[in-house]
Amino acid sequence: MLDSYNRNIDYLRISVTDRCNLRCMYCMPSEGVEFLNHNEILNYDEIIKVCQAAVKLGFKKIKITGGEPLVRKDVLGLIKDIKSLEGIENITITTNGVLLAENMEGLYKAGIDSINVSLDTLNRELYKQITRRDELENVKKGLLEALKYPSVALKVNCVPMGLEGQSLTDVAALAKEYPIHVRFIEIMPIGWGKNYRFLSEEEIKDLIVKEFGLDEMVLYKEKLGNGPCRYYKADGFKGKIGFISAISHKFCGDCNRVRLTSTGFLKTCLQYDTGMDLKAVLRNGFGDEEMLLETIKEAIYKKPDGHRFLTTDIKDENILGMSQIGG
Ligand code: GTP
Ligand code: 5AD
Ligand code: SF4
Repeated sequence: MLDSYNRNIDYLRISVTDRCNLRCMYCMPSEGVEFLNHNEILNYDEIIKVCQAAVKLGFKKIKITGGEPLVRKDVLGLIKDIKSLEGIENITITTNGVLLAENMEGLYKAGIDSINVSLDTLNRELYKQITRRDELENVKKGLLEALKYPSVALKVNCVPMGLEGQSLTDVAALAKEYPIHVRFIEIMPIGWGKNYRFLSEEEIKDLIVKEFGLDEMVLYKEKLGNGPCRYYKADGFKGKIGFISAISHKFCGDCNRVRLTSTGFLKTCLQYDTGMDLKAVLRNGFGDEEMLLETIKEAIYKKPDGHRFLTTDIKDENILGMSQIGG
């Protein structure tokens, strides 16, 4: 459906859990965050009800996120059920990859269309420092397993943090060697993300062009994928190099998405806590479809025009962490 700024909102990101098997420095404090009780998060029947309503409003694309979505029991069953809803064209997942190898066949059978793996460095010591867990080898196994299913698009998400030894060009080299699209995400000042050095798309592009001796990288004009990523062709690479540059190339004018948090809040912009509590509608006896549709429509109608990361001070008490929002 169209929002009040005439944007077509057809992409729903669903965070199925706030739990995670990593503790990334830009996402959580070292002690972790207090996880929610099971009854606070939507059950799968409730998530399906939201999806059915979303389809009626013209949604076509669903992203499963977390926390780490693969830690929630029977998430593959949920993916299969969502994929079988009439009107859903595309279902994708964003995972940290730790449990990917053992779940890859199941994801394929459930009908997953695309997998994004968050991987900020290939340096094992730094990976341990960033994620506070020693899981890099499992993530690599996951990528190799996923490559056995060429019909499932495979992408790596890397957040440059300005840390010594992160070696962004080593991560970019994955796209040279394998048919993996490597995307660099400008760090956003959300939660603990404020604590790290910001590197812009231009800086990273320069690093890659120099390292691989490229003349230039050519921007793909057509839109690829469901998200805000802009992709470049690098000569001799099997995959593309992409950038998600919320700061240097703000994309809010083309925003096509809303987010469902694991607690059932329909969040309409990454920066603000604007949105509607769908769990209340689902659970408080007003759970009929009409009410759900009206509540989703109202939330979308009030969707803000965009973020103000550079001009507003984001108050920690007002904003959910990334593990609760799902990125
Ligand atoms: P595909 O390109 O189709 O794979 O989808 P995607 O890029 O939306 O997927 P993914 O879950 O991998 O998101 C990548 C990054 O983009 C995450 O860090 C998100 O936080 C960021 N992102 C996605 N949507 C938005 C948005 O609406 N605003 C901002 N500022 N960042 C976003
Ligand atoms: N800024 C940019 N990206 C972030 N992610 C988590 N926190 C931030 C942040 N502050 C990324 C993760 C994952 C995706 C869903 O969101 O690395 O790839
Ligand atoms: Fe887990 Fe993703 Fe947060 Fe890392 S960024 S701690 S993988 S939810």
